[in-house]
Amino acid sequence: AGVFTHDPGFTSTSSCESAITFIDGDKGELLHRGYPIDQLAEKSHYLEVCYLLLYGELPTAAELEHFETTITRHTMIHEQMHNFFRGFRRDAHPMATMVGVVGAMSAFYHDSTDITDERQREIASHRLIAKMPTIAAMAYKYSIGQPFVYPRNDLDYASNFLRMCFAVPAEEYVVDPVLSRAMDRIFTLHADHEQNASTSTVRLASSSGANPFACIAAGIACLWGPAHGGANQACLEMLKEIGTVDRIPEYIARAKDKNDPFRLMGFGHRVYKNFDPRAKVMKQSADEVLDLLGVENNPLLQVAKELERIALQDDYFAEKKLFPNVDFYSGIILEAMGFPTSMFTPIFAVSRTVGWISQWKEQLADPAMKIGRPRQLYMGATLRDYVEIEDR
Ligand code: CMC
Repeated sequence: AGVFTHDPGFTSTSSCESAITFIDGDKGELLHRGYPIDQLAEKSHYLEVCYLLLYGELPTAAELEHFETTITRHTMIHEQMHNFFRGFRRDAHPMATMVGVVGAMSAFYHDSTDITDERQREIASHRLIAKMPTIAAMAYKYSIGQPFVYPRNDLDYASNFLRMCFAVPAEEYVVDPVLSRAMDRIFTLHADHEQNASTSTVRLASSSGANPFACIAAGIACLWGPAHGGANQACLEMLKEIGTVDRIPEYIARAKDKNDPFRLMGFGHRVYKNFDPRAKVMKQSADEVLDLLGVENNPLLQVAKELERIALQDDYFAEKKLFPNVDFYSGIILEAMGFPTSMFTPIFAVSRTVGWISQWKEQLADPAMKIGRPRQLYMGATLRDYVEIEDR
């Protein structure tokens, strides 16, 4: 008792036992329930991966159909929740809106907040996975002053999301299958990533017995930061700021300068000390989408490709084992699809919801679960007597 290790940033602390996701950072390997991410991105699709993460096995055809029907049934949000969106300023960041709206779900869905009831936990997970795209799309529509578009349950998860973001009542909207596939891949590649900052936040919030909607709202808040989910927005803004290939060396030099806080966004990872396996698939997707949209000569992509090439040849990045991560290419795809940068992190939040939920469920089922309560290394004043205000 009283003896503990000091580990800022938890670089060498395991917080739980988990059977969901495995990462070998040196090899650049990511497995969900044992299946490699590149196989899942290639052969599977987002809702099937959701099932795998939640229940541990790939579904049979009947199980998948049942799961998809269940999720589809929950895609609408309570009509009264529309008022929440209208309470925000139009220029609010969609992540700010989502933290509020998702947290407020516990005020609406009382029949799924009792965490001791397995059925309620199940309903809460389905509701969150189903409603997150609707909430993210509504936050976007509200920010651009367009009417909300209700979900359509005959569409797959990714196509439905694209339609809710880009359709307007005055016109027919047809989702291009290449864009739908690329959207699905972005969801799939971000679905889970073991004990990252937002997942650990969800687990810590849940360790007190908080309800699932409150826990996921906490995860969204944590994801927002530029060192985590906010990196995709920050990366695209950086590529735009660099603008042309000839300015790359200046930014590489800044990233290497110890006295300059600038970092190459979309580079480096706490766990991967090799290529992020998700970045490889994302790069291929970026090529497909830009090809389809006829923007393969997109200046941002040229800057991104050249930046990657130069950085990978640079000793600084080699020594520190800094490689492109998943967010290096996702922003280019989303921008080409027509999303503003402020929607990049909300899209990450939609994708990661299943990871948060799977980890939350696993934690609640763990008999060893206790409240998360780190200690500290106290560095403040030692014991001293109170000083009256007139004597200070
Ligand atoms: N550009 C330049 N230098 C870097 C970078 C970078 N992107 N990333 C790390 N370094 C340097 C850093 O300055 C440090 O140098 P030194 O040892 O001389 O002090 C060394 O590499 C180790 O960095 P660290 O900050 O101690 O490593 P960390 O594990 O705490 O940070 C990270 C990981 C992802 C926060 C960091 O690499 C970073 O800030 N990257 C840019 C932001 C980014 O792309 N984030 C997305 C991560 S993937 C998606 C997600 O998980 O949400």
